[in-house]
Amino acid sequence: MANVVIIGTQWGDEGKGKIVDLYAQEADVIVRFQGGNNAGHTLVVNGIQTILHLVPSGILHNHKICILGNGMVINPKVLIEEINELKQRDLFPTDTNLFISNNAHVIMPYHIRIDSAREARKGAGKIGTTGRGIGPAYEDKVNRTGIRIADLLDIAVFKEKLACNLEEKNFYLTRFFGEEPVNFDQIFEEYCGYGNEIRDYAANTSTLIARHIKAGKHILFEGAQGAHLDIDHGTYPFVTSSNTVAGSACSGGGIGPTKIASVVGICKSYTTRVGSGPFVTELTDEIGTHLQMQGHEFGATTGRKRRCGWLDMVLVRQACTLSGITGLALTKLDVLTGLEKIKVCTGYRIGNEEYTDHAPANLKLFSSCEPIYEELPGWTENISHARSIEDLPRATRRYIDRIEEMADVKVVLVSVGAGRNETLLLQNPFR
Ligand code: IMP
Repeated sequence: MANVVIIGTQWGDEGKGKIVDLYAQEADVIVRFQGGNNAGHTLVVNGIQTILHLVPSGILHNHKICILGNGMVINPKVLIEEINELKQRDLFPTDTNLFISNNAHVIMPYHIRIDSAREARKGAGKIGTTGRGIGPAYEDKVNRTGIRIADLLDIAVFKEKLACNLEEKNFYLTRFFGEEPVNFDQIFEEYCGYGNEIRDYAANTSTLIARHIKAGKHILFEGAQGAHLDIDHGTYPFVTSSNTVAGSACSGGGIGPTKIASVVGICKSYTTRVGSGPFVTELTDEIGTHLQMQGHEFGATTGRKRRCGWLDMVLVRQACTLSGITGLALTKLDVLTGLEKIKVCTGYRIGNEEYTDHAPANLKLFSSCEPIYEELPGWTENISHARSIEDLPRATRRYIDRIEEMADVKVVLVSVGAGRNETLLLQNPFR
């Protein structure tokens, strides 16, 4: 059995897209299991960039099965646009290779309206969501009023559920937010159209994955966001509304934990965050600007500037625990080139107390934590051409070694550029 879960160890944007694309070469089936089009996975193949929001990054390989699992919230309009764009660019192999879980929830226009109305009302205290309706869609799922893909495909059921939902949503939109209501006929017609367009992709994806596992195929579970955006374990309330840890691959993919062989945690060589919330190692000086500019740290979904800072190993250690990470993939190491000294946060200090393996749950405490840094020498050599550890300068190797030691997890991959080939593959998680 060689089924692998890939997740982010920080606040998302760790460079998962490239790693999933690389590992997808070894996989037969690629499954997304949580989140929605709040994610933006950037891939560069033969110098050409593709940004995917919903379709698993494995789609760029021919003959791979790609699955949107039950744990996702899906905006069908965005999905159809993404499929059409891939088709136009000749990057979508065949319709029979894409499956969408019947149980996945549908993001409706009122979810998006509520998301932005809430953020506007919160003002400075806003979460800084992507504005894609993710939270309100998951809210309806937990509230048992959500509309699932299976409902969308049954006109009578969809009509009834939509009518029922709109009664409540329009009351909320108009009376609480003073906004315009949404229109039943317009949504009904538009979404019936989407239902027809995606009908052929809908399936019971849990049993589909099980059949592939039984046949000895390799499954790659592609996480979105990062461990510290997890609804249970992240920096609540500045989190997304799904579980982003590896365990979520089981509930969001519809498989048991005994079917997972290894978990690769993607760790960017420094830390970034979009949206609000505490960030102990944040840099607002010229080093922060260096990371932001060299790393092209702009959100793939919203275009927002990402906040940047030194690598925070407290967060990475906690992510390793939360997801049982068996190997780390270190990304964007080339971005650190040119910095004279590199700092790594080994712990937090608040008063007499130190935190080394988890962040305080109390956000007030977390916000007042001081970072404890270890300083390492930097390097000036261009490392983008390195293909093995031996090709790297001594200082770069030292940085990797220290990360391994601090995380107590092996580094299995190092990425030194955006291209597929700009990678040091140290261990194959499928073997
Ligand atoms: P939401 O997922 O749109 O509700 O946003 C909640 C928080 O998660 C905000 O801080 C977002 O910036 C953040 N977030 C959501 N998706 C991503 C992602 O793919 N990368 C990084 N941050 C994300």
